[in-house]
Amino acid sequence: MAKIKQLFVCTECGYESPKWFGQCPHCREWSTMEEKVVQTGGNKSSVSTAVASEIKPIGEIKGGSELRFSTGLKELDRVLGGGLVVGSLTLVGGDPGIGKSTLLLQICQHLGNDKVVLYVSGEESMSQIKLRAERLQVNTQNLFLACETNVENILATCSLKNPDILIVDSVQTMVSDHVSGTPGSVSQIKEATSAFMHLAKEQGITVFIIGHVTKEGALAGPKVLEHMVDTVLYFEGDKNLNYRILRTVKNRFGSTNEIGVFDMQNGGLKEVDNPSKMFLEGRPENVPGTCVTCILEGTRPVLAEIQALVSKTSYPVPRRMASGIDFNRMALLIAVLEKRANFALYNQDAYVNVVGGFRVLETAADLAIVLSLASGFSDFEMPGDLIAVGEIGLSGEIRAVSFIEKRIKEAQKLGFSRIMVPSRNKISEIIDGIEIIKVSSVSQAIYKLRNK
Ligand code: TYD
Ligand code: MG
Repeated sequence: MAKIKQLFVCTECGYESPKWFGQCPHCREWSTMEEKVVQTGGNKSSVSTAVASEIKPIGEIKGGSELRFSTGLKELDRVLGGGLVVGSLTLVGGDPGIGKSTLLLQICQHLGNDKVVLYVSGEESMSQIKLRAERLQVNTQNLFLACETNVENILATCSLKNPDILIVDSVQTMVSDHVSGTPGSVSQIKEATSAFMHLAKEQGITVFIIGHVTKEGALAGPKVLEHMVDTVLYFEGDKNLNYRILRTVKNRFGSTNEIGVFDMQNGGLKEVDNPSKMFLEGRPENVPGTCVTCILEGTRPVLAEIQALVSKTSYPVPRRMASGIDFNRMALLIAVLEKRANFALYNQDAYVNVVGGFRVLETAADLAIVLSLASGFSDFEMPGDLIAVGEIGLSGEIRAVSFIEKRIKEAQKLGFSRIMVPSRNKISEIIDGIEIIKVSSVSQAIYKLRNK
């Protein structure tokens, strides 16, 4: 016989407890614990009603390759792994105002050429969406709008209208009759997402869900949605700057860490074919405290400029600030400079910044960070035609990086004539007119630059 168990579940964060609380111990919300009765596994003496599942040898299963179609934006197709998969569910996350609705409304024009698109908004009125569509020059006859927040009503609309593509803007506004909780609470978001997942899989409708990122930086409810959907894309960027980066966080149909780069203009998002060029625009050359590096974003090499400002501190403890790189990584690299290259940074404030609000998380950027700090401190000029790649270890050694040829090619494409690389990477000295400078330690790299 199955056991009946009493459980209290928080409608805000999904926290479960056998005991009732006035305030949820996890998210600290008041009066959110609701009683739920669950059945747990049967006891051994009960008669089982379970039916054995059908099984098949793997060799007999037909491996259908997934059907894909283009969204009309190459950058978006790239992050999706080469186009949109029919019957997939994609979550597009990002800060409010970053451009999620704009992106998805914009692709409706191309999708509408041969597909029916239903755009359901729980955030804006039809006339607001129409205004935006006019701005984006979206006027296809195959785009239908609905202002609706009830999940069951949306499912009913889909069975009636049978669209090829459904866009839900945003999942935080959706409410289902099947669960309690306010819109945006974890129980509602989970229920809505699983309903749309079923819709995608059973009726072959391709679904996009928009999700706002909460203050804590997670998609509302600690990552509850990411495991449920096929693909997770994050839209990021500095709202004060125009460019936006779309990043794949999870993809059941392609690789992750791919990025797509867009420029937000008056008429919507424009694709950026050459991000390296954009990130290096207006770069000062032959000045101290700056160095260009090449990092890999998925399969794509991108050049980024690292800048460092080092000056004597007037505080008891020197200030350190990292923007665009990991703070702890910066602290580690400063320690390596002090210990392995005799730089007295203990009484120096140090600020490191990646130009253009770009985020550099790859360790291949270590060498460029160290060189910009060293040149910022000692005030020696960094050559404008040089880029540096290499990971730095704690004994000051420079370690090999992956895909070195790709990085060299990108540097060459953008007109750099010298590249500093780890000597552990096996490559020939001269490749098509770009000079390769091999270095094996931090002090050697700095020495080579000062005595060039
Ligand atoms: P939006 O797509 O509404 O953001 P989200 O859905 O992620 O909350 O983007 C709104 C911002 O984009 C707003 O600040 C105005 C800007 N924008 C443009 O710069 N150009 C445009 O053509 C459009 C439609 C919006
Ligand atoms: Mg929006």
